[in-house]
Amino acid sequence: MNGLDITSFVARRARLADAMDAAGGGVAVIPTAPERARNRDTHYPYRHDSYAFYVSGFTEPEAVIVVVAGQPRRSILFCRPKHEEREIWDGFRHGPDAARERFGFDEAHSIEEFDTRLPALLAGAANLFHSVGFDEGFDARVTRALNAVRGMARSGLSAPAAIRDVRAMLDPMRLVKDAGEIATMRGAAAISVAAHKRAMRATRPGRHEYEIEAELLHAFRSGGAEQPAYTSIVAGGANACVLHYVTNDAPLRDGELLLIDAGCELRSYASDITRTFPVNGRFSAPQRDLYELVLAAQAAAVAATRPGTPYNVPHEAAVAVLAQGMLDLGLLQGSLDGVIEQGNKREGGYFRFYMHRTGHWLGLDVHDAGDYKRGADWLPLAAGNVVTVEPGIYVRPAQDVPAHFWNIGIRIEDDALVTPTGCELITADCPKTVADIEAWMRG
Ligand code: GLY
Ligand code: MN
Ligand code: MN
Repeated sequence: MNGLDITSFVARRARLADAMDAAGGGVAVIPTAPERARNRDTHYPYRHDSYAFYVSGFTEPEAVIVVVAGQPRRSILFCRPKHEEREIWDGFRHGPDAARERFGFDEAHSIEEFDTRLPALLAGAANLFHSVGFDEGFDARVTRALNAVRGMARSGLSAPAAIRDVRAMLDPMRLVKDAGEIATMRGAAAISVAAHKRAMRATRPGRHEYEIEAELLHAFRSGGAEQPAYTSIVAGGANACVLHYVTNDAPLRDGELLLIDAGCELRSYASDITRTFPVNGRFSAPQRDLYELVLAAQAAAVAATRPGTPYNVPHEAAVAVLAQGMLDLGLLQGSLDGVIEQGNKREGGYFRFYMHRTGHWLGLDVHDAGDYKRGADWLPLAAGNVVTVEPGIYVRPAQDVPAHFWNIGIRIEDDALVTPTGCELITADCPKTVADIEAWMRG
């Protein structure tokens, strides 16, 4: 975490306190993610919680951030204490004193004091802002602290009358990326672009999906990324029609396509790219027909991605192009209105070949925090949002489907930063047109 600019994290805690004050004041309690045992003394690779990171920059396990609104405002970090022996086995810990200094907190204490200190922090607070249901074990600790305060009622102490979800205050903040976040996301995008280009060049008949996955991982780590932002999908031929295919163990065959959905996580921020290309470097005519259709659908969705536009409009733009193409190519019969209206009905609707949505928020998490609707209305896009644009088409064999399209699965996914006037694809350097892909694979 060297070089981390801590001022933005301090500013986020101040904004959170502003929002809490506007909601009647109180105390926010934000735990990081628990460690998960894999077996005996081995753990799954640790990844901090994105909300806790967002308001602290702190990445150690066993930490809780507390923000006290009102006057005086305080932000308090509970973290692991220094421990010579554990640091010999597991590595460096800041400990409360160094962490307070480094991460700009007013106070810091050992996590071992959290349960005894929490009741005093909650006593007299109007609201408790807490992520109920995020971690059952942590919910129980908070409940115990609340009961401890209630038990002190005769001394004049009162427990918060309302528990509100702190995520509802942080999500709108997380949706609009600041300059530092955008710079990091550009960095993540650049590493993922390099990884996809490396994977395309490494692909040829006879290699295996896992060998190509290894090329992606090599590019992620050697580019400085911590890890993949999600399990890479490396799906040859018919495997591309399995939307969440992650087995990645099949041989790659001449004449088939390879779909790769992979993105790295850099300084906790995700990227998310899908490219689909021919294993032998040349699209066949039916592959090209479907590929050009998905590309046109993506272009329509990208053109609709701009501030003020309701979130769903790019999806509708992609669906309109895909549905028309399905009619033109003989995948569906009927009228455009009909196949769109039939929508998610398997018989006759576009959903049979395009059954997912065209994108999602992207940020600290690949499917990032934040609502998509407010009441009945889709949220309007705003400058600083980052969304993916990822239409696709997936054709399973069936008697009523032209056989030359069977088992073709295609998705094209880029990451779009909404700008004041439209959007910018921060993953645009990854080859995407038929000509660019074929030229890159020849190179
Ligand atoms: N890679 C996950 C997604 O595209 O949504
Ligand atoms: Mn995605
Ligand atoms: Mn993806």
